[in-house]
Amino acid sequence: MKVGIVGTGMVGSAAAYALGLRGVASEVVLVDLDSALAEAHALDIAHAMPFASGTSIAHGGYDRLRDAGVVIIAAGVAQRSGETRTDLLSRNAAVFRVVVGDIMRVCPDAILIIASNPVDIMTQVASAYSGLPNHRVIGSGTILDTARFRSLLGAHLRVSPRSVHAYVLGEHGDSQVLAWSGARAGTVPIDRLGAQIGAPITESIRAEIDSKTRNAAYTIIKGKGSTYYGIGAGLARIVAAIRQNEQAVLSVSSVTALVEGVRNVALSVPRVVGREGISTELLPDLDAKERAGLQRSASLLRGLFESVSL
Ligand code: 2OP
Repeated sequence: MKVGIVGTGMVGSAAAYALGLRGVASEVVLVDLDSALAEAHALDIAHAMPFASGTSIAHGGYDRLRDAGVVIIAAGVAQRSGETRTDLLSRNAAVFRVVVGDIMRVCPDAILIIASNPVDIMTQVASAYSGLPNHRVIGSGTILDTARFRSLLGAHLRVSPRSVHAYVLGEHGDSQVLAWSGARAGTVPIDRLGAQIGAPITESIRAEIDSKTRNAAYTIIKGKGSTYYGIGAGLARIVAAIRQNEQAVLSVSSVTALVEGVRNVALSVPRVVGREGISTELLPDLDAKERAGLQRSASLLRGLFESVSL
């Protein structure tokens, strides 16, 4: 399967690198307004392939995306230190009008994966501009927040984050909801395991894990200007689920008909992802506080989307 990446800043190039290392695509094509940048990343990443996989790494204009099965959009302006993801909204919506139109012209059958922030709004903007059914426009959403939550829980409970089943729902941003009530290690509720191993999940541990998950991007941006390795790996994970028709449960963003009373809003819940994109939503049972948080997040996102002039 050919995978296109439009926008080859740090996120797009990290995604290309992760895709190449995983070997999930036959070809990755990098497209950027700055063609010298796309070419340089393509060359650099191609030089890693003899150590990793047979993926061919190319670059070029939009025409090179013809027949791509998936196109990742990582185009747009970057989040500045101290800037929230939603501040980026109007700047990135204008970029998407052009980018989505150009992609649909050459590969109208591709599944779109959206990485640009604010990602939930950009996912809904891409759904609107592309005219694709909602299940074929997938935002990276909280896939990364879920990974952050699982790694912090895993470290506290001394189990692999891959054996922690816990999700971050709602906005990929400040209003995100950590779904503590359903979190499990294996099949065991995390509170029970914490008590069993002498590492109870106290209120202060919860507050610390919540804050480290919610504020991870701010911490990283303060230190090095932007985040890219985590999201690059997350994007490659979504592509793998599509490529291998895995029907994997991933927390990704998509336009949802109804969430906690809010209609037509893009946000993350666990979703089944395979060859045709998203097939099913798996909204977990939530406690009252989590439901109220999800309702708040959905209302906020819907309001922001309505503020975009398409
Ligand atoms: C992140 O959460 C900034 O959205 C980016 O790492």
